[in-house]
Amino acid sequence: MKEKRGLETMLVHAGEPRPRIARAVVTPIFQSSTFAMDGDVGHQDLQYARLSNTPSHQALHEKLAAVEGGEAALVTASGMAAISSVLLSLLRPGDHVVAVEGLYGTTHDLLVHDLSELGIEHTFVAGDDPGAWERAWRPRTKVFYTETMTNPLLRVADLPGIAAFARARGATSVIDNTFASPVQFRPIGHGFDVVVHSATKYLNGHSDVIAGAVIGRASLVASAKRKLDRLGGSLDPHACFLLHRGLRTLSIRVRHQAQTAAALARALEAHPGVARVHHPGLPSHADHDRARALLTGFGGMLSFEPRGGLEAASRFLGRLVLGVDAPSLGGPETLVTLPSRTSHKGLDPVVRRSLGIADELVRVSVGLETAEDLVADFAQALEP
Ligand SMILES: Cc1ncc(COP(=O)(O)O)c(C=O)c1O
Repeated sequence: MKEKRGLETMLVHAGEPRPRIARAVVTPIFQSSTFAMDGDVGHQDLQYARLSNTPSHQALHEKLAAVEGGEAALVTASGMAAISSVLLSLLRPGDHVVAVEGLYGTTHDLLVHDLSELGIEHTFVAGDDPGAWERAWRPRTKVFYTETMTNPLLRVADLPGIAAFARARGATSVIDNTFASPVQFRPIGHGFDVVVHSATKYLNGHSDVIAGAVIGRASLVASAKRKLDRLGGSLDPHACFLLHRGLRTLSIRVRHQAQTAAALARALEAHPGVARVHHPGLPSHADHDRARALLTGFGGMLSFEPRGGLEAASRFLGRLVLGVDAPSLGGPETLVTLPSRTSHKGLDPVVRRSLGIADELVRVSVGLETAEDLVADFAQALEP
């Protein structure tokens, strides 16, 4: 399907093999590690699952490229496989990365530990301060890296500004669009060169797959793929099938989750047991105006501080019936975590608090439950 269609149409139809394979309405799973050579062809025509070129991979690549508006796409064995393949394909020893502060913890660690060990340096900057970007920039800055929304405070950087700044200096802009998904933000249309995803989250959406994706210009995706081929982080065909199945319902899931998150955020903000709510859809959020201007919805994530400190937060988690105390996000069931005990546990508590992450902050990935049931469950769990 080459012509431009609406997002929901592309999610269902883009990349589906035509003619249909054995007339199957759903693209079958090609659970074969290798494929017979078709006559006298060269090594480059080898079809082998590690090279991400089975029909299971190819259908997904076309669908993801269509929905993110990129020339090409690549699926990977995890979000980290996508991020590491992209960064390793763009950077050499002596190069430098400018990255927006507050990155997902393992991406932060990849920059601080693994890339540093390879002689690749980095500087963290505020997402809305071009003066700081300018000061951080070096002759060998090759990548400007950001996320659409930060975890767990859901800050939204000056995203088009970042893409334009990198482009004007000949660097590659890379954005992790996991939290917004292409339903609520399509970075390529705002000037970004490469989009990465933890497809484990909204793209798959069923809490049953670990996967990642890279979308962008064909030359950049091809170079990430060469890296992935050698590092070996390809997605298994069965996981491709599950991701493919999840993608078909991405839009209705994310829209429903965003609607429920907005209702829950409003209810929590009005609750006497809650000191503060962070959700970009609330006028009280620091980046509300920017989020309104850039995003087509505010996503399914929020965080809040119950009154009464860590004790109140622990009591809340213990009483919650529908929300599951587990990391990750983007699934059908509401997930709640305390970043001070999970994703941000490794940080010095003083530093963590200075970043605005209170010990009692609860992060919520809103699921697909009925909004009224979730609001009632949160309210009962917040009772003094
Ligand atoms: C924003 C973001 N990027 C990347 C990742 C890493 O993805 P994965 O766990 O699929 O490797 C995560 C995982 O939580 C994430 O939240």
